[in-house]
Amino acid sequence: DEAALQAYFDAVIAADQKIEPRDWMPEAYRRTLIRQIAQHAHSEIIGMQPEGNWITRAPSLKRKAILLAKVQDEAGHGLYLYAAAETLGITREELVDLLISGRQKYSSIFNYPTLSWADVGAIGWLVDGAAIVNQVPLCRCSYGPYARAMIRVCKEESFHQRQGYEIMHVLGNGTPAQRAMAQDALNRWWYPSLAMFGPPDADSTHSAQSMAWKIKRFSNDELRQRFVDMCVDQVKALNLTLPDDGLRWNDERGHHDYTEPDFDELMDVVRGNGPCNRQRMAHRKAAHDNGAWVREAAAAYAAKKTSAKET
Ligand code: ACO
Repeated sequence: DEAALQAYFDAVIAADQKIEPRDWMPEAYRRTLIRQIAQHAHSEIIGMQPEGNWITRAPSLKRKAILLAKVQDEAGHGLYLYAAAETLGITREELVDLLISGRQKYSSIFNYPTLSWADVGAIGWLVDGAAIVNQVPLCRCSYGPYARAMIRVCKEESFHQRQGYEIMHVLGNGTPAQRAMAQDALNRWWYPSLAMFGPPDADSTHSAQSMAWKIKRFSNDELRQRFVDMCVDQVKALNLTLPDDGLRWNDERGHHDYTEPDFDELMDVVRGNGPCNRQRMAHRKAAHDNGAWVREAAAAYAAKKTSAKET
């Protein structure tokens, strides 16, 4: 009966074991996972756009090959994550439809424009850096397929983070114009990267329940703080400055104090009013529509194969 199933589920969570697709789970747990994994998958797919913008203009063949590989990795992450979401009983078609019709979200960060080559460096260093801080704990998430997908995703994100940091390092230690371009990119991406971790704990609707279910292992503010502390060390080798006058070490807390991002701006971007929301969605929808013939051809081919086997 339901009470026994719930007790078994609770015991698996308490013992830090994994819930697997065929296990019983509370409906709200299933819904929360579909929401989070789908948002995560959509973010990977939409996230290809800002960087894809620089593939044709990368400053060398080597840089172009690296960026191309990185953007392809993001597509791969999207696919593992859609597959993980599908184990919860929703189809890929439904998920794509939820994104395109605007009923599911994707990360706020991908609604900002990439204005210069240095933005590719800043995204790799900061955005992928923030993604790693957020996703390493998800490798221990209580839902097996999501946790396992995160292991590979995090390894690839580490490569992405290093390539971005290396771009910033070359520019930050380059000519005055290159250094100014890198500083400008850092100034524009810093606060949106801090906002990626979500609203402050007091305003985070899902955190308490998601932490009790061990989907989330740390709160939004804990991870944001960890990211700030990390960047303060990393920026030292870049010959650049984090754009926050309020940054200072707090001996008592054992962390850096810092200025919070503008959370009203975060919520406004999430509601669809960021600088690039409309462009991102229009582009995704056009790509989906333009791919209709490929899906139709693949389905026709699969049907032909099946009927050939039957006769
Ligand atoms: N962008 C868009 N929406 C956000 C963001 C953000 N940066 N942060 C929070 N939200 C939304 C939440 O989705 C939620 O809305 P919903 O109820 O409609 O789903 C609402 O704001 C309240 O936030 P929380 O209660 O804190 O939501 P949650 O517990 O899901 O925490 C978080 C948000 C930390 C982003 C979590 O979902 C998560 O860890 N997701 C997996 C990682 C991920 O999606 N990364 C994407 C970018 S990384 C990359 O692709 C490179």
